[in-house]
Amino acid sequence: MWWRRTLSTGRRCLGCRRNGEKGIWSFHTRPICSAPALPAGRITALQALDVWKRHFEEKGVTEPEHSSQYIIAHLLGAKTMEGVEPQRLTEFLSKEKTEQVWQLCTRRLSRMPLQYIIEEWDFRDLTLKMRPPVFIPRPETEELVELVLTDLQKDPGAAEAHQTCLEVGCGSGAISLSLLKSLPQVSFVVTVRNSF
Ligand SMILES: C[S@@+](CC[C@H](N)C(=O)[O-])C[C@H]1O[C@@H](n2cnc3c(N)ncnc32)[C@H](O)[C@@H]1O
Repeated sequence: MWWRRTLSTGRRCLGCRRNGEKGIWSFHTRPICSAPALPAGRITALQALDVWKRHFEEKGVTEPEHSSQYIIAHLLGAKTMEGVEPQRLTEFLSKEKTEQVWQLCTRRLSRMPLQYIIEEWDFRDLTLKMRPPVFIPRPETEELVELVLTDLQKDPGAAEAHQTCLEVGCGSGAISLSLLKSLPQVSFVVTVRNSF
């Protein structure tokens, strides 16, 4: 699923569907507001989460809790907080790890989309590399891929035929890569903008 980062409540994050500022998908970077000072002493992952969640809230960063959770989980080698071993959350972070948390969270403070900060995002069952200016795949695009696959399943002959698909403007390649994973017999030709 696109939201591999299932929330603890089990609800789907709808931040990206809002009008106006686009939550963690936001492209509107701003000058960096002041970050909280690096802690003088040692700090645990849970304490860092709390510091940054409150700071994001105070500075009006959308999805303050998810933003800090995803960044810290990523730095602890997991995709979600649920994937982090509970004991690691209460252990002190190393100095280097603490600095990394501050560095990445400061990027979020400038409204850089989370996907660019952690440099990856899930699309269906794939984890895609993310780097500006490559388009961040939208959750609706996952639905589009599902629709194509469902449509092809209605006609098994079409799914098995050696067809070629053309995708113009493939961005991260999410659509073609995802279809290719489900339909390895189909060939894909993609176009990218050569100014990248
Ligand atoms: C709205 S994005 C869609 C990306 C991708 N298909 C997706 O849904 O995740 C449109 C993409 O088309 C690319 N693009 C725009 N003009 C193009 C052109 N003339 N030739 C090839 N690609 C182009 C953009 O760089 C961008 O990656």
